Amino acid sequence: MGFSEERSADVVAASFAGAADPRLRQVLSSLVRHLHDFVKEVDLTDEEWAAGIGFLTRTGQTCTDVRQEFILLSDVLGVSMLVETVNHRTGGVATESTVLGPFHQVRSPDRRLGDDINLDGKGVPCLVSGRVTGPDGTALPGARVDVWQTNEDGFYDVQQPGVQPAGNLRGLFTTDEQGRYWFRSAVPRYYPIPADGPVGELLTATGRHPYRPAHLHFIVSAPGHRPVTTHVFVADSPYLDSDAVFGVKESLIRDVPEVDDPARAAATGMANPFRALTFDITLLRGDAHEGPA
Ligand code: BEZ
Ligand code: FE
Repeated sequence: MGFSEERSADVVAASFAGAADPRLRQVLSSLVRHLHDFVKEVDLTDEEWAAGIGFLTRTGQTCTDVRQEFILLSDVLGVSMLVETVNHRTGGVATESTVLGPFHQVRSPDRRLGDDINLDGKGVPCLVSGRVTGPDGTALPGARVDVWQTNEDGFYDVQQPGVQPAGNLRGLFTTDEQGRYWFRSAVPRYYPIPADGPVGELLTATGRHPYRPAHLHFIVSAPGHRPVTTHVFVADSPYLDSDAVFGVKESLIRDVPEVDDPARAAATGMANPFRALTFDITLLRGDAHEGPA
């Protein structure tokens, strides 16, 4: 079959016929079909094609061991969020997922329930707590609750080595007999994603801001259940309606009220009154590697 504008995608798709892996054949054929449709739909010029190649080249060149500009590109185009959503359908029963993001680069330090993870002491103290259950509400003791957030200045510890203590605002907790977890931290704040590279150029060129609304990251897992990668978002944060990476889901937004409870303050080591963020998590039954439900 000769190459022509009309048949371009068919010709290239046919070239994959010998691929041993049928899934690879399917994914590549579909990708080529959409790419060719895109070129035809916008009548892509030589200059635009070259600019696109240049942009992708710089995106690759910006990647280092601690910076993944391609994932950031996927994030700001909504692709990361779509892949996450397609792969973690909850059926309205379990806690919804959202993007992992690029800052879970280190293993979180093991912590004990009640620990204070706010090692630099900045920001407004906050008690974070909740319960991990299965879909029928049964408590999941021994569940692992991995959390990480930025400090008051809007940076993760891995972005500021030597400035923040390693492990600042990170922790790996294990739920108690009733499936509960609690720890001391700071009220999360909003912050910009790294915008000094090609992704930042794209945001500027399209009139978009780089901010994410205030959030705390979670990965929660328990034996016999599907893990969830998610965040809890702070209800009064700016940018809830315009997250740079489209990560907000209504079900993940919580108030962080001031609580006046001297007994609980004394039991948890908080100064009364204190801000409290409560986030219960429901996991679906299944194994860690199950695909889309
Ligand atoms: C984050 O929330 O850590 C994040 C997610 C996507 C892109 C950049 C940062
Ligand atoms: Fe984040």
